[in-house]
Amino acid sequence: MRSLIIAITFTAVALAGPAATAKPLKIKFSHVVAVNTPKGQMAEKFKELVEQRMPGKVEVQVFPSSQLFGDNKVLEALLLGDVQMGAPSLSKFRKYTKKLQVFDLPFLFSDIDAVERFQKGPKGKELLMSMEKKGITGLGYLHNGMKQLSASKPLRVPADAKGLKFRIQSSDVLVAQFKAIKASPQKKPFSEVFTLLQTKAIDGQENTWSNIYSKKFFEVQDYITASNHGLIDYLVVTSTEFWQGLPDDIRAGLQQALDEAIAHGNAVALEKSNSDRQAIIDSRRSTVIDLTPEEKAQWVKAMKPVWKKFEKQIGKDVIDAADAANNTGS
Ligand code: LMR
Repeated sequence: MRSLIIAITFTAVALAGPAATAKPLKIKFSHVVAVNTPKGQMAEKFKELVEQRMPGKVEVQVFPSSQLFGDNKVLEALLLGDVQMGAPSLSKFRKYTKKLQVFDLPFLFSDIDAVERFQKGPKGKELLMSMEKKGITGLGYLHNGMKQLSASKPLRVPADAKGLKFRIQSSDVLVAQFKAIKASPQKKPFSEVFTLLQTKAIDGQENTWSNIYSKKFFEVQDYITASNHGLIDYLVVTSTEFWQGLPDDIRAGLQQALDEAIAHGNAVALEKSNSDRQAIIDSRRSTVIDLTPEEKAQWVKAMKPVWKKFEKQIGKDVIDAADAANNTGS
């Protein structure tokens, strides 16, 4: 009797085939910001859509707030297969391509609509694949927003920033941008910014309204200048080897879910660039400074020469296409 039961059980398992016993594909998605940000919300939406549509086949684990890797390490981890997806800021790919530096050029994009036009255009699409030879595939851009300058003292004109230490992301364009205003740029991981500001090891930093709000930088910075001088957007990336190794239907399903998650994240970005700014103003912990057109012109004049310095590395064609995206043609 016992051997009959074993035989029946064995036959049932064998007939169910590999699908019944196959383990779900696991995707680890690592990022550095809080959950209540455009990137945090995009990653959560991606997980929700994938697990709803491919139950038992794919599992997504999201690790926010640098819990698993900081952005400077996540690309190495991706290439080693320790994570399968990430979405570093476009300022953090310097080791793998120089072309994405275009997104760091100061005062290049007049607003997020211009950024969107460039990213959707032929040059923008080409840049998604600019690291393919290095084993990194770009799956899509995600918005965060325009950068603002925060500091321990009011910054109205570039001369006010002279000699101050600013934390920057790991981008040489950003080094040049702060040197252009005679300040001292310090490349530091995002996870250290709050403590560096709180202990006054640095005087200021540049970031979007949602990052300044969600990581509480406004509580340790007395002034925020609404400079809109640059951009923080993201590239959702995977390893080319991992991506190409997936079955076609799974790859297509993941791309579809990601496109929808990005659309959701972009809507959150738009909403937060207003609501988080307002929340900071309402907190009265930090004074928000709006620039007059004359003051703004001084920042543009001081920082814009940086474009020329990086023209060779980025490519004039790429810079021109980005600049042209400011024109709606209407
Ligand atoms: C930063 O390091 O300031 C940003 O890249 C963080 C992020 O991912 O938004």
